[in-house]
Amino acid sequence: MCGIVGYIGDKKAYPILIKGLSRLEYRGYDSAGIALLENGTNLNVYKRQGKVIDLTEFVDGHSTEGTVGIGHTRWATHGLPNDVNAHPHCSGDGSIALVHNGIIENYDILKKELIKRGHEFKSETDTEVLVHLIEDIKEKSGVSLVEAVRIALNEVHGAYAIVVVSTEDPDKIIAAKKSSPLVIGMGEDEYYLASDATPIVEYTKNVVYLEDEQIAIIDRKNGLRIISISNKEISPYVQELEMQLEELEKGGYEHFMLKEIYEQPRAIHDSFRGRLDAKSGRVSLGGIKDYEEQIAKADRIIIIACGTSWHAALVAEYYFEDLARIPVEVEYASEFRYRNPIINKNDVVIAISQSGETADTLAALKMAKEQGATLLGIVNVVGSTISRVTDAGSYTHAGPEIGVASTKAFTTQLVVLALMALAIGKRKGTIADKKFQLLLDELESLPEKIEELLKSDDYIRGVAEIYKDAQNALYLGRGTSYPIALEGALKLKEISYIHAEGYPAAEMKHGPIALIDENMPVFVVAAHGEHYEKVVSNIQEVKARKGKIIGIVSKGDTAVKDIADHIIEIPKSDEFIVPILATIPLQLISYHIAVMRGCNVDQPRNLAKSVTVE
Ligand code: F6R
Repeated sequence: MCGIVGYIGDKKAYPILIKGLSRLEYRGYDSAGIALLENGTNLNVYKRQGKVIDLTEFVDGHSTEGTVGIGHTRWATHGLPNDVNAHPHCSGDGSIALVHNGIIENYDILKKELIKRGHEFKSETDTEVLVHLIEDIKEKSGVSLVEAVRIALNEVHGAYAIVVVSTEDPDKIIAAKKSSPLVIGMGEDEYYLASDATPIVEYTKNVVYLEDEQIAIIDRKNGLRIISISNKEISPYVQELEMQLEELEKGGYEHFMLKEIYEQPRAIHDSFRGRLDAKSGRVSLGGIKDYEEQIAKADRIIIIACGTSWHAALVAEYYFEDLARIPVEVEYASEFRYRNPIINKNDVVIAISQSGETADTLAALKMAKEQGATLLGIVNVVGSTISRVTDAGSYTHAGPEIGVASTKAFTTQLVVLALMALAIGKRKGTIADKKFQLLLDELESLPEKIEELLKSDDYIRGVAEIYKDAQNALYLGRGTSYPIALEGALKLKEISYIHAEGYPAAEMKHGPIALIDENMPVFVVAAHGEHYEKVVSNIQEVKARKGKIIGIVSKGDTAVKDIADHIIEIPKSDEFIVPILATIPLQLISYHIAVMRGCNVDQPRNLAKSVTVE
C-alpha cells in the first residue's frame, strides 16, 4: 500500500509527480504529499489529507518550481489519515525529506532513543523515525547522506521502499527497498522512480527493478549507481516494459472497474493466446513447461493467496483434484505463514496474486521456499516481486488492473489455472480425451460467450436498481460455483458497503437460513450441471421463507425461472467453465449497485489495491 514517486532531470518535477501519484492512487488514497527542491536550496513540502486532487488544490498558488522532487499517496498504517501524518516527512532541520511505503517495525524503540537524543517528532508515523534516524547518523558521524541512509537501513526492521532528497545534496535522489516494490525509469538524462511502472511508462520503457536491500543513488551528472545495504556495488539490470499507455486510461468508460469488466473477452483471449489450441488439442504453458513433470508427481499442491485471488484458488482446487488427481490445499496466505505448516520437498506451492506484491502471500512463499517446496506463481503484474521469487509460473496477461475491486484479474486467473490443470491432467492421463477436448473448446469459446453475456448489461442494471437499497445480501453456490458465491459477496461488500455473505448453498440450512425474510436478496449460481437439482431445492427453501431469489442460470433454464424473482442467463457451458461466466453478471450487479448508491467504485473506502502490509 501507499504509492511513492520521484523525479530528477531537466523537466519541472511537479506535474510529473502529480500525474504519477494519480496513477498510483489505487495503492492508497487517504492523503498525499510532495517535496520539491527549488533552486537546490528550498525544500518545499506540501501535504494534505484526502486524494491527490485535494493536494493539487492546496498547492495552487504556491511555488511548484524545481526539477527534483518526491511524492506519496498514503494508505494509513501508523497514525490517522491527516495532514501531519501524510508524507513526505522531514528531518528536524528541514533539510531532508523522505517518502516511504512499508512499515518500520522497530520504530518505537528507535523513536524513544531519538527523543532522548533531542529529536522532536511531529507525526505518529513510523516513517518519521527513519528520516530522523538518517539525520541523527549524519550529524553524529559526519558521513554523506548516502552513507547515512545506508547505515540507517541496517538499523531498521520491517519493509520499506523509500525515496529521499536533501538540500545538502540537491542534485541527487536516493532510493532503497526491502519487501516493498520500487522501479526506476531510465530516461535521457532524467530518472523516474515509482512503486510500479504505471507512472513511468509514458516517459520511458527502460526500467530497473530495485531488489531487496539495494540502494539506488541517482546523480544528475553521474547517473544511476546501485549498492547493497552492505555496501557492495551492483550493476543495474535494465529491462524493457511491455505495458502500453492506453491500458492505463479509462478509454471512455465512467470507471476503471466497468472498463475492466468489459475488457474480459480480450483479457481472457490474451491469457490463453499461444497456450491453447483447441483445434489441434494442445495446451502448453511455456512458463511451467520445465516443471510439469514435478507438478504431475507432486504429493500435494498448496495454493496460497488472499482475497479474490484466494477465491480463484478455491476454484482451482476442483480443477486440479478432478482433472489432474492431485490433492490440493487452499490457504489464506496470512494464516498459513503463521501456522508452522508442514511443507515437504514434494509439495508444489502455487501463489496466486494480481499485483504480485501482496505482503502475506510473499512471506508465505518465502517460508515455503525455506522448507524446500517448489514455488510457482500465477501473477498479473509483469516483473512484480512474486513473479521474481518463484521458481516458475504463468502470467495471466490481463493487462493493468486499476479499479481496486478485482475483475479481469480473477477471470484470467481461472483461465490460467484451468489450463495448468488440463496440461498436468493430460500428462498424467487422468483426464479422458473427450473431456479434455470439450474443455479446450469451451475455454477457447469464452471470449465470444462473454461478449454475448455483456449484452445483458442493461437488463442487469435493471435488476441492480431493484436491490440497490438492500441492507444485506446472501450469495449461494455449490461445487465450482461456491467460490463464485464468495466472490460475488466480496464484490458487493467492498464497493457498495452492503453487508453480503457467500455460502455453499447446502450449508444455508445450518444457520444462515435464519436470516432470510422478504427483505433478503439471495443471489444463487444455479447453472446446469451435477448440482443443479440440489441447488433448485435450496432455492425452494429460500422461497418458502419469502427470500428474494436472483438466479444466475444457464440459457434456456425453466425450473429456476419458475420460482426465482429474477434470472440472469449465462451461456450454456461445462461446470468447469461456469465459474468464469457466472462471475461476470455478479461483477456487473455490484458495479451498478455501487454507482446507484453514489459510492466511489474505483477507490472504495479503507481499501487499497496492493496490500503490501501484513
Ligand atoms: C478484491 C481484491 C482483493 C485482492 C487481494 C489480493 O476485489 O482485489 O481482495 O484480491 O488483496 O491481492 P493480489 O491478488 O494482488 O495478491
